[in-house]
Amino acid sequence: MNKKILIFIILSLNILLAQQKEKIQNEDRLQWFKDAKFGIFIHYGIYAVNGIDESWSFYHNKISYEDYMKQLEGFTAKNYDPNKWANFFKEVGAKYAVMTSKHHDGVALWDTKLSDLSVVKKSPAKRDLLKPYADALRKVGLKVGVYFSHLDWSHPDYATVYNGNDTLPKNPNYYDVPMPGKQSKERWENFIKFRNGQLEEVFKLVNPDLWWFDGDWTRTKEQWKMKELRDLLLSWNPNVILNSRMQGYGDYATPEQGIPIYGPNGPWELCLTINNSWGYQHKDTNHKSVSYLIRIFADCISLGGNLLLDIGPMEDGSISPEQTERLKGLGRWINKHAEAIYGTERGIPFEYFLGPTTLSKDKKTLYCFVINQPKHEIIVKGIKNKIKNIRLIGTNENLNYKIVGKLYWSEVPGVLQVFIPQEKADENITVFAIDLDSPLELYSDKK
Ligand code: GLC
Repeated sequence: MNKKILIFIILSLNILLAQQKEKIQNEDRLQWFKDAKFGIFIHYGIYAVNGIDESWSFYHNKISYEDYMKQLEGFTAKNYDPNKWANFFKEVGAKYAVMTSKHHDGVALWDTKLSDLSVVKKSPAKRDLLKPYADALRKVGLKVGVYFSHLDWSHPDYATVYNGNDTLPKNPNYYDVPMPGKQSKERWENFIKFRNGQLEEVFKLVNPDLWWFDGDWTRTKEQWKMKELRDLLLSWNPNVILNSRMQGYGDYATPEQGIPIYGPNGPWELCLTINNSWGYQHKDTNHKSVSYLIRIFADCISLGGNLLLDIGPMEDGSISPEQTERLKGLGRWINKHAEAIYGTERGIPFEYFLGPTTLSKDKKTLYCFVINQPKHEIIVKGIKNKIKNIRLIGTNENLNYKIVGKLYWSEVPGVLQVFIPQEKADENITVFAIDLDSPLELYSDKK
C-alpha cells in the first residue's frame, strides 16, 4: 500500500478514536446532571429591593441607571441563611442549584477585586454571598451551579464593539453598543480579560460544578472568545458542566419558559419562573399552581430533560411564602415518586400511553404518569415484552391488570389495562411502574 495512504488511514483512525473518547468522557461528565432532573434557579440581587426586573428595567429605561443602583443601599441580606436554603432544596428533591453570581447589571455577589460593583463593597450586606451558598449546598450533597452574565452593562469597556461588524444597529441601545467615537477593539480586549478574571475569582472561591452562562447574544463567538473560554473552564475543572449559552460551546440546551413539545436532542434543562419574574417582585402574584408545576415537571422528565425552577429571594434573603408553598407541593410529589424520576431516561411516544412516561436505565421498567384522576382502566398499548408485575409508585403495592384483545395468530400485542383504585390515586399525578422481563420493546405498524 502506498505509504501516504497508510499514514492517512492511521491519522484518520486516531482522530476517530479521540472523538469517540471525548464523547464517552462528555457523557460521563454529564451523568450526574442527566440523573438529577430537578434543580433550583436563584435570581438573587439588588433588583429585589424595589421588586423590579433584574437589569432589564434600566436597560429598557423604566428606571434610570442611578436609581436602579440606589437599590444597593437597601440590599441587606440580613436573613440570608444558605444552610436553610440548602436543606429546603434538598427536602423538596432538588439535586442542584444555580445562583446569579452576576446578572447583566454587573453587580457581583462576591468580593470581586476587579471592580467596585459588588454587594460586598457597595451594599449594607457587606459580605460575600457566594461561598456560603456553595458550602451550604455541598454540605447536604447538592451540586453547585453558578449563573454568570457574559455581558455587563455597567463595565466601561463593555460597550466598545458592535455585534460582529462595524455598523451601528438601527435602534442602538448604548448599554450594549459603543456611543459614537467610543469604538475600541483594545478596550474590548480589556473587557474579555476582566470577564475571565472575574470567572477565575469565582472558580477559586467556589469551583462550580456547573457554569450557567447568559447574555451571549450581543457579540459573536469570536468576539467572546468562546472556544478559548470553554477550554479555560475545563482546564480549571475537567468535570465542570457548561450550559448552552456559549454559542455552540456549551454542553446542554436551555429552553426558557416555553415548554418544549418534543424536547431538544441531547441533554437539556427547562428554566421556568414560579410567577412571571426571575427575581423577587412583590407585585407579581401570578404564581403557577402546584398541580401545573408537577405536570410541567413530568413533561420535562418524560422528554429526557431537567427542570430548573426559579425562585427570587427577597432582598433580606428569605423566600416568599408563595414560592415556598409551591416548592413544598412539588417536593411532596417528587419525593413520593422518586423511583420514577431520578436516573431515568426519556419515555415512550404518546401513541402508546396518553401521558408522560420515563424508563429505567436498564429499560426493564416503564413508569407511566396518569395525569387525570383514574376513574376508568388505564390503557397502555404496544408492549411486546412479558410483564412481570405492575406496581403503584409511592406505596409499591401491586396493581391489578389484564391484557385484552391478543390474537394468537397476530403479532399486534394486546392492550394492557391497569386498574388503580380511586382511593389509592395521588391527588396530583399517579404513577405506576410496569416491570418487564427484558428491555422494553414496542410494536409499531408505522409505514
Ligand atoms: C433571560 C434574561 C435574564 C434571565 C434569564 C434566565 O436570558 O435575560 O434576565 O436571568 O433569562 O434564563
